[in-house]
Amino acid sequence: MEKISWQSPSNIAIIKYWGKYGNQLPRNPSVSFTLKHAVTKTTMIATPLDKTSGTPQVKFFLAGVENPAFADRVTKFFGGIREFFPFIESYHYEIHSENSFPHSSGIASSASGMSALALCLCELAMRIQGQTEAIGTSSFIERASFISRLGSGSACRSLYPKLASWGETDAIIGASDTEATPCEDWLHPLFNGFHDDILIVSKKEKSVSSTVGHGLMDQNIYAESRYNQAKSRMSVLMDAFRTGDIQTFGEIAESEALTLHALMMCSTPSFILMKPNTLKIIEEIRNFRADTKLPLFFTLDAGPNIHMLYPDQIAKEVADFRESQLKDLCQDGFMLLDEMGEGPIRL
Ligand code: DP6
Repeated sequence: MEKISWQSPSNIAIIKYWGKYGNQLPRNPSVSFTLKHAVTKTTMIATPLDKTSGTPQVKFFLAGVENPAFADRVTKFFGGIREFFPFIESYHYEIHSENSFPHSSGIASSASGMSALALCLCELAMRIQGQTEAIGTSSFIERASFISRLGSGSACRSLYPKLASWGETDAIIGASDTEATPCEDWLHPLFNGFHDDILIVSKKEKSVSSTVGHGLMDQNIYAESRYNQAKSRMSVLMDAFRTGDIQTFGEIAESEALTLHALMMCSTPSFILMKPNTLKIIEEIRNFRADTKLPLFFTLDAGPNIHMLYPDQIAKEVADFRESQLKDLCQDGFMLLDEMGEGPIRL
């Protein structure tokens, strides 16, 4: 029996992955901040299967409660990676997962959850091969990024500290569609400790899963121009990271979020994922920026919650503004204050 535990963070995309094909390949490059506090801790107990005793089983527990729906998703994921891990069907798996953020907080956990699970599997592979010294090396992390991607595309970026890209782009040498690339070295010191305050407008589950959302892009008449837009934005944004151009960073971050939502609004069927308070908060942020000239920006995932992005230098001013103007627009005043983090930890 092998017992393996990893903690892995969530991430917030600045250039969004939206549209995929083949076996989890992205239609355009994306880049994200790795978060610090929004993490999943996963323990995997793998028990060798007695050849005479049936087929492998996955049991999944979320915060101590058995979750058959997640067990099904993991079983599917394991089925899809058999070619990379031939041992996978020779074990039973008991998986215990815990998120640092409340289950019903509207925060997607697939990036942190799938990356933590992929790390456990990669460690199991190393143990089976007797190569425990390879655990945690850069090729191990690369492998975990590749495997995470097959579980959830955005998860592959969570393996690296601070900033990671995914998808082929002229902007980053060696960038690939099959795994993420670490980009921490691109960051100008002005981006050190960059903040992401997650303002929870609604704690409800998303009304459209990302997988369905990606699928809608196949029929969207704007899809090709969108993919080209993301491709050309990659070089502009990576330059902004390098030179500390927070203004350009912010313009791209906001436009990416609104483009993602616009694409959903004009898909068939159409989805409007913003809520009235999402728009109110956006307006407040833009007014604050106009009044103070301070670099406070927002982005959104495929849901109603606002991610407020800003450099550490203005944290005090933003805290005052957040508490006085924004807190009341959040469900039960709920906000998760996060920032750039260092990536996964072996527990
Ligand atoms: C809007 O990675 O959740 O967060 O590959 O189907 O699991 P699947 O999708 P997922 O999509 C994330 C979409 C996004 C943008 C992003 O993180 O880049």
